[in-house]
Amino acid sequence: MSEASSAAASGGLLSAEWAPQPHPRQRAWVEVDERAIEANARALQRALTPGCELMAVVKADGYGHGAVPVARSAAAGGASCFGVATLQEGLELRQAGLDQPVLVLGNLSHPDELRACLHWQLMPTLSGMREALLCQNLASGSGRQMVAHLKLDTGMSRLGAPWQEGPRLLEALSGLDALRLGGVYSHLADADAPGTGLDPLTSQQQQRFDEVLSGLQRQGIDPGCRHLANSAGTLRARQLHYDLVRVGLALYGQRPAAHLGSSLALQPAMHVRARVSLIREVPAGVGVSYGHRFITQRASRLAVVGIGYADGVPRLLSNRLEVLFQGQRLRQVGAITMDQMVLDATDIPHLEAGSVVTLLGEDYGERIDPQTWSEPIGTIPWEILCGFKHRLPRLPQQRDPGTNG
Ligand SMILES: Cc1ncc(COP(=O)(O)O)c(C=O)c1O
Repeated sequence: MSEASSAAASGGLLSAEWAPQPHPRQRAWVEVDERAIEANARALQRALTPGCELMAVVKADGYGHGAVPVARSAAAGGASCFGVATLQEGLELRQAGLDQPVLVLGNLSHPDELRACLHWQLMPTLSGMREALLCQNLASGSGRQMVAHLKLDTGMSRLGAPWQEGPRLLEALSGLDALRLGGVYSHLADADAPGTGLDPLTSQQQQRFDEVLSGLQRQGIDPGCRHLANSAGTLRARQLHYDLVRVGLALYGQRPAAHLGSSLALQPAMHVRARVSLIREVPAGVGVSYGHRFITQRASRLAVVGIGYADGVPRLLSNRLEVLFQGQRLRQVGAITMDQMVLDATDIPHLEAGSVVTLLGEDYGERIDPQTWSEPIGTIPWEILCGFKHRLPRLPQQRDPGTNG
């Protein structure tokens, strides 16, 4: 019997405990700098108005970094609660033993989802009376109180009850004895707009939010925790901080716009690295990759790297990407394919099979940010970070980035 089949027969390969470990010769991976997340949380927390708390937004698997390690590091840096998009994301945090408050930012409308929130003490977002009544019924049947936040739409036209209905809704919610209002919030649609001070849309959203809050004060209703700002709002103006800010992108070390957050020295937490699998020497005039979208202009040394669009490198970046090797930049040439791409290593003779290149993040003091990828192809850094697939293992950052071996 072979080693593999005897292991399988004894339950080894198939047992629940078995999990693949990254192979020492892994072709590509995402390195996550947990200390950077912690430092970013600390820097953000220090920049908040006194008494304002930091919610670490860890949805979409912590923007691709891994929700659980991000949540732990953010908490170590001072985040007091977490924001997720889905029930499953909330459960993942609870099952990992994290017991801080968790707000589900997405809309949960099925009674089973809300029942799970009650059981796992996750706070759902309410956008209207229907979900509020469901929560009331579920909670009163269980003898426990359900905590939820009410979301108001002040100009995003996505989730949330229309802001004009805020006072009436909040009054109705205050009559539901099994439902406790943990907070009231809204979401900014354009806080990263160019310019200083508040842009017109953010200003309008804030006025609407404030109008609801002063109405509540007149009615003597306590709205719980009031929150409005995402990363851009947090970095844009302290008047947007209220009791809590919900920060995603900045926690991961990225600024939502070049004019925001320059004083904070945020550290990028994601480094995407890949290994050279093959070197080939070709003459001038040779076409490279599908469609021959690159033709060598000189005798060239090409390096094949095992990462492609199925890993999350957008194919639209073909012929436009640069990667780092020991602080030097190399051009990627030809079409990016599903699992591979080709680099022009002609001017870097010490790059060899097995060498590690950096696609995103830091390498020997040089740095490539997701904005370098997103801008030429008309997308945003959020999409680049969330786009890395799970066939790239997430590894804690090596302290000596970019070394071979
Ligand atoms: C409701 C809500 N709050 C906060 C955030 C965090 O946004 P950012 O990553 O820009 O900080 C998001 C992210 O999309 C969100 O949907």
